[in-house]
Amino acid sequence: MDRIRIIGGNRLNGVIPISGAKNAALPLMIASLLTKEKLVLDNVPRLSDVRQLSRILGNHGVDVTVAGKRNGQDGEIGQTLKLDAEMIVDTCAPYELVSTMRASFWVIAPLLARMGEARVSLPGGCAIGTRPVDLLLMALERLGATIEIEGGYAVAKAPAGGLKGAEIAFPKVTVGGTHTALMAAVLANGTTVLHNAAREPEVTDLAECLIKMGARIRGLGTATLEIDGVPRLSGAQHAVLPDRIETGTYAMAVAMTGGDVLLEGARADHLQAALDMIGQAGATIACNNEGIRVSRNGSLLEAVDVATDPFPGFPTDLQAQFMALMTQANGTSRIAETIFENRFMHVQELARLGAQIRLSGDIATVEGVARLKGAQVMATDLRASVSLVIAGLAAEGETMINRVYHLDRGFEQLETKLGRCGADVTRISG
Ligand code: EPZ
Repeated sequence: MDRIRIIGGNRLNGVIPISGAKNAALPLMIASLLTKEKLVLDNVPRLSDVRQLSRILGNHGVDVTVAGKRNGQDGEIGQTLKLDAEMIVDTCAPYELVSTMRASFWVIAPLLARMGEARVSLPGGCAIGTRPVDLLLMALERLGATIEIEGGYAVAKAPAGGLKGAEIAFPKVTVGGTHTALMAAVLANGTTVLHNAAREPEVTDLAECLIKMGARIRGLGTATLEIDGVPRLSGAQHAVLPDRIETGTYAMAVAMTGGDVLLEGARADHLQAALDMIGQAGATIACNNEGIRVSRNGSLLEAVDVATDPFPGFPTDLQAQFMALMTQANGTSRIAETIFENRFMHVQELARLGAQIRLSGDIATVEGVARLKGAQVMATDLRASVSLVIAGLAAEGETMINRVYHLDRGFEQLETKLGRCGADVTRISG
C-alpha cells in the first residue's frame, strides 16, 4: 500500500493548477444514464473515484472512454470522458460496487427515470457519520415511485405512465438528495418544485449540464428549483467546474507554511466563506482572472472560530484542513461541525503530530500555537487525510501518511502539485 512521506518546514511558492471537482464529476457522469446519446465531459479529474464510477456505469452498459487530456501545464491534469449509455443492459447496482463509493447510490434516479426501475444496494456506513438515504428515497417516492427495501437493496419502480412531477420539500439540505431529485424530475411528467434544495456549486453544475441536454430547470443557485419534465434528453458537452475543496485545501496549506501561490483556475465565488476565514486568520487573498493568489509572509496566524454549514457557508469538506491550520494560530479556536455527526476522526491523528485539540459534542477546541513534529499517521477519510498532509508540511521533521488510497480518491497529482511549489513530498510505493 502506498504511503506519502513529507519533510516539513518548506514554504510554498509557485502555481498550482486546480483540477475539476470530484463532487461535480461524479453526478455528471451518472447523468449520462439519462440519455441514449453521448455525454462528453471535459476537465474530469483523474481520480480513483472516477475510475470506480466508470466501472459501475460500465456494469449498467455505459461505454466510458477517455477521449483526451486537459490542455494545460504538461497536460497532466484532467481528462475528457465520453459516456455512451445508448443501451442500458442492467438496472441493478450490486453491493460489491456501491459499497465502495456512496455517491454511486445516486444511479437510482436516472435508472428509475429512464428505465422505470432500479435495484441499488444501500450504501454502507461511513467513517464520517451514519449518512442515511431516507431523503433521497422520500424525493423519489414523492415523484410517484414505489420503493421496497429487500435484502439490503432499494428496489424502486416507477408508476405505469412514468414518474410524475411533484412538490418536494427537503427537511434538511442534502446535496445527494438534490442531485437525485433533479435527475429523476427532468424526465418526469409535469413540473417538480424542490424546496430547500442544496445550493452547492456542484448542484448548479449538474443542472447546467442537464439544461444543455435539453432539461428545463429554473432557479439555479437558489434553494428553490423548478423542473418541467421533458420526454427525453439528448447528448451534450460540458466542462466540470474547478474543485473548490481542492482550492481551499491548498489555500490553507499556503496559509500554514507561508509563501505565495497562485491557485490557477480557482473560482473565489465558490469559496467565499472559507476564503474569508483564511483571510481573517492572517493570509492575504487576491483574486484575479487567473485564479486566487494566497500568500503569507511573516505575519502571524490568528485563531478564528468556524461552524460548517451548507453552501454558501463554510464547507464541511474543509473542516479538517482548517483545524490543521488553527493548530498554528495564535489563540484558541472553536470549530463546530454541523453537517456530519462524527467527522472528527482527524483529531487524534493531528494530536499525534502534537496538536492540542479538545472535543465536546460537535465542537472541537483547538489550542494554538502547537509545535508540530512529524510522526506516522493515517486517516479514515479523504479530507481527514489531506488535513494530515498540510499539517505535515508545517511540522518539523518527517511525517509518514499511511492509507494514501483515501487521498487518491479526491486529490489529483497531490504530490506533484505540492512538490512543484517547493514542498518535500514523496510517494513511497508498496
Ligand atoms: C456530499 O455528500 C459530498 N459528496 C460530501 O463530500 C459532502 O461532505 C456533503 O455533500 C456535504 O456537503 C459528494 O458530493 C460525492 P448530504 P452527500 O446529503 O450528498 C444528512 C467528500 O469528502 N442526510 O448533503 O452524501 C446527512 O447524514 C464527501 O468529498 C440525511 O439525513 O451529503 C448529513 O448529515 C464527504 N438523509 C446531511 O444530510 C439523507 O437521505 C448532508 O448530507 C441524506 C442526507
